[in-house]
Amino acid sequence: MNKRKKNKKSPSSTWIKLCPIIFIAGIFALEACAAKDNKPANVTIKAGQSCSTSECHPKMGKGAYVHGPVATGDCSFCHKQENKDKHRFQPIKDVEALCYECHEKLDMGSVVHQPVADGDCTGCHSPHQSDNQFQLKGAGAILCYECHDESIGGGKFVHGPVAVDGCSICHAPHSSNSPKMLMAEGNDVCYSCHGDKQEEFSSKGFVHGPVSDGCVECHNPHSSDFNFTLPGESTQGVCFTCHEDKKDEISQVTVKHGGLETDKGCMACHNPHVSAFPQQLDMAPMDLCLSCHDKEYKHEDGTSVANMKILLEENSNHHGPIAEKDCSACHNTHGSKDFRILRGYFPKKFYASYDPDNFALCFMCHNDTLVKDAKTTTLTGFRNGDQNLHYLHVNKTPKGRTCRACHDAHATRNPKHITDTVPFGAYKMPVGFTKSDKGGTCLPGCHQQFDYNRDKKVKNR
Ligand code: HEC
Ligand code: HEC
Ligand code: HEC
Ligand code: HEC
Ligand code: HEC
Ligand code: HEC
Ligand code: HEC
Ligand code: HEC
Ligand code: HEC
Ligand code: HEC
Ligand code: HEC
Ligand code: HEC
Ligand code: HEC
Repeated sequence: MNKRKKNKKSPSSTWIKLCPIIFIAGIFALEACAAKDNKPANVTIKAGQSCSTSECHPKMGKGAYVHGPVATGDCSFCHKQENKDKHRFQPIKDVEALCYECHEKLDMGSVVHQPVADGDCTGCHSPHQSDNQFQLKGAGAILCYECHDESIGGGKFVHGPVAVDGCSICHAPHSSNSPKMLMAEGNDVCYSCHGDKQEEFSSKGFVHGPVSDGCVECHNPHSSDFNFTLPGESTQGVCFTCHEDKKDEISQVTVKHGGLETDKGCMACHNPHVSAFPQQLDMAPMDLCLSCHDKEYKHEDGTSVANMKILLEENSNHHGPIAEKDCSACHNTHGSKDFRILRGYFPKKFYASYDPDNFALCFMCHNDTLVKDAKTTTLTGFRNGDQNLHYLHVNKTPKGRTCRACHDAHATRNPKHITDTVPFGAYKMPVGFTKSDKGGTCLPGCHQQFDYNRDKKVKNR
């Protein structure tokens, strides 16, 4: 507890504040009449005479809550005179033992508050009187702030019970059987009030690491400068306090994903607590993507981001990873250095010089041999006899056709993910593909009808 106020509670400072004292050879001499400074050197206190008069100790015994023995005006049980003619009293060396001369020993749990363990009962209780119940030296949190730093409850956002009830609703003042004298252990502290959350959280299969470690990994139980008493903004900041690698990754991307830029930040897709899906996702991964990509995003410069939901609905032949409902196989949701937040390079254009790196995306999963050899009988089904038609179209410089000239990465009506049309500038050029058993036919915007047959090479005109 490094923020603890130093010495705030040392007995001497309290004494100095309350009444002048004199140390004589380690003996406390109780002096009368703080106000007037007429300290008697010798006073004989007769039996039955009170020490609290209008002149001497005038405030003693006056307060909303007066300690039993003080109320009777009997000081002598606790303050024993050194010498019955001198106004000198034996020091109270063991306060705790004094309290236990009349009080039953407190029932102690296994975790004892330091000042209680130290026998510093008067750190919190005035032996005489106070404005607070139990003669406490402060009401509610103010008592605790006698020794603890006020910043505990001083954040911009203060947790409900701290704001309303102070500290004792969660911490026992003397001791308890849980760490930090809490009334329960771990997340049970939180669930004792947030029972609804316990139900909600136990009903889901995937629990975010820190939630099982403890709610206090993220929520300050007292206060913080951020909403929900989090250690950072509830949009991203809180996540980055632990996921620093993601912070770095996201700060380095050149193609940003609009999905991360909404007001909800990370919470647009992730649940910070629990989820029915892996990766703390709010929905099944593909449903999540389509929950936003169920519309076209249009830009002023004429560009757009297509409505993927419609595209998938209208084209029943879904590409392998999509059939497996895994959009993230190709796209990095958190952003990328590549066009369309792709996980590998994929050319934007219809033409590109031949270089396997140009198709890094497709070749993450497919074998790049399909475009390498001019002649083959095994490497690809797109061949006329042994003539490799992938090689023919793609393996050219500078005007190699990119995969997009024929394939759609998402979904098509045709087999083999051959598109119906391909953008060629503003022109939606038809591909005109028909598949047959041993080959196929193309009547594209690029050339006249060509057929291919893997078994029997077709002679096109
Ligand atoms: C239940 C025991 C108890 C009784 C009864 C009691 N005192 Fe004390 N008093 C103490 C303790 C203990 C201290 C030392 C306080 C501390 O440790 O901070 C103290 C301290 C004092 C001090 C030093 C300054 C201060 O206020 O802390 C004065 C003066 C004093 N008592 C006067 C009186 C008078 C007068 C009476 C009778 C009206 C009285 N006390 C009754 C326990 C008692
Ligand atoms: C001379 C006997 C005596 C001593 C010594 C004594 N007390 Fe008490 N205390 C009482 C009596 C009597 C009451 C009033 C009990 C009641 O009203 O039920 C009381 C009441 C209290 C209460 C309020 C309890 C309640 O339930 O309202 C607290 C707190 C307390 N004492 C703390 C202390 C502490 C701390 C010490 C040691 C500094 C101490 N007492 C020393 C006799 C003593
Ligand atoms: C850190 C502050 C603190 C210290 C130190 C402390 N108390 Fe208390 N005590 C409290 C508070 C707060 C209450 C009010 C009751 C509650 O909230 O449980 C209380 C209540 C009491 C009561 C009355 C209720 C009960 O539990 O019986 C007694 C008697 C008591 N304390 C005695 C002591 C004695 C004896 C010591 C020293 C061994 C001591 N206290 C030390 C804060 C403290
Ligand atoms: C008289 C001084 C004093 C008062 C008043 C006081 N405390 Fe403490 N508290 C301490 C000391 C000393 C420690 C042990 C310091 C440490 O662990 O560094 C401590 C420790 C704690 C701890 C455990 C800290 C830890 O890291 O284990 C909690 C929780 C706590 N106090 C809560 C409270 C609450 C709640 C109140 C008000 C009801 C309160 N304290 C009032 C002196 C005090
Ligand atoms: C809603 C319950 C709750 C309330 C109310 C509460 N605390 Fe805590 N407090 C906790 C929990 C839980 C921890 C343990 C935090 C951890 O383990 O990181 C704690 C820890 C502490 C600690 C140990 C140091 C620290 O910060 O971890 C101190 C001191 C403390 N509380 C003081 C206070 C004070 C003073 C108040 C009143 C202003 C208060 N508490 C109110 C739940 C609460
Ligand atoms: C004594 C009851 C109590 C305990 C224990 C408690 N809370 Fe709370 N909590 C509340 C109350 C009351 C609110 C305020 C609710 C409101 O404003 O709607 C609140 C609010 C919150 C909020 C903000 C909710 C919002 O919508 O702004 C969070 C987060 C929270 N608590 C987390 C925790 C955590 C974590 C713990 C355990 C360390 C915990 N609470 C323990 C009573 C409690
Ligand atoms: C990984 C950090 C993290 C952990 C651990 C965590 N929370 Fe949260 N919690 C958050 C974030 C972030 C929000 C804000 C959510 C939002 O903006 O929609 C939040 C919001 C809340 C809220 C208020 C909003 C709501 O959903 O009702 C409560 C209550 C809450 N958390 C309770 C808990 C409890 C109880 C635990 C422990 C079982 C816990 N949290 C653990 C990060 C966390
Ligand atoms: C207190 C630290 C902490 C905070 C804050 C935090 N996380 Fe985590 N997160 C973890 C830990 C620990 C794991 C578990 C890692 C593991 O099991 O390998 C985890 C796991 C995850 C996972 C699953 C990773 C996987 O491979 O299964 C996701 C997704 C995640 N966090 C997202 C978030 C988001 C979003 C936020 C902000 C709301 C956030 N985290 C805040 C510590 C944190
Ligand atoms: C648009 C939806 C979306 C948003 C917004 C989002 N994520 Fe994710 N996140 C995902 C998906 C989908 C996955 C699982 C697929 C994957 O690994 O890319 C994931 C996985 C993760 C993982 C675990 C796997 C890994 O890549 O390490 C972490 C950690 C993570 N996200 C953190 C964050 C953080 C932090 C934020 C906020 C800055 C955030 N996410 C925002 C969709 C999102
Ligand atoms: C919270 C809503 C949301 C979610 C969920 C979401 N996105 Fe997005 N996405 C957007 C927004 C907004 C844009 C930017 C649209 C624009 O350009 O105006 C975008 C853009 C894109 C782009 C085009 C990027 C570019 O700038 O070229 C791709 C590709 C994309 N998202 C894929 C995905 C995938 C895959 C998922 C699921 C893992 C997903 N999105 C989930 C909102 C979302
Ligand atoms: C096999 C890899 C792959 C998978 C899996 C994939 N995409 Fe794509 N996605 C691409 C490629 C390549 C582009 C760029 C296409 C282009 O420019 O012609 C793209 C572009 C997009 C675009 C921008 C569309 C446009 O041109 O306007 C969105 C939105 C998108 N993808 C969303 C998704 C969603 C949602 C999923 C899951 C249902 C998904 N993607 C799965 C490879 C993939
Ligand atoms: C994440 C892995 C992955 C990526 C990246 C990928 N594919 Fe696929 N692709 C598959 C899977 C899986 C299949 C289904 C294989 C099967 O059914 O035999 C498939 C099937 C195909 C098929 C149909 C094969 C057949 O025989 O029916 C074509 C054509 C195709 N992909 C083209 C592409 C193109 C073009 C790209 C780059 C834009 C690409 N793929 C990127 C995984 C991927
Ligand atoms: C000129 C059109 C065209 C271009 C350009 C093209 N493909 Fe193909 N691709 C086809 C046709 C047609 C088939 C179907 C062959 C068959 O089975 O009849 C095919 C089949 C495939 C297959 C299935 C396996 C196979 O080889 O038969 C994969 C994988 C594939 N293409 C990937 C790619 C990749 C990656 C690119 C870009 C590097 C690409 N294609 C460029 C027309 C093209």
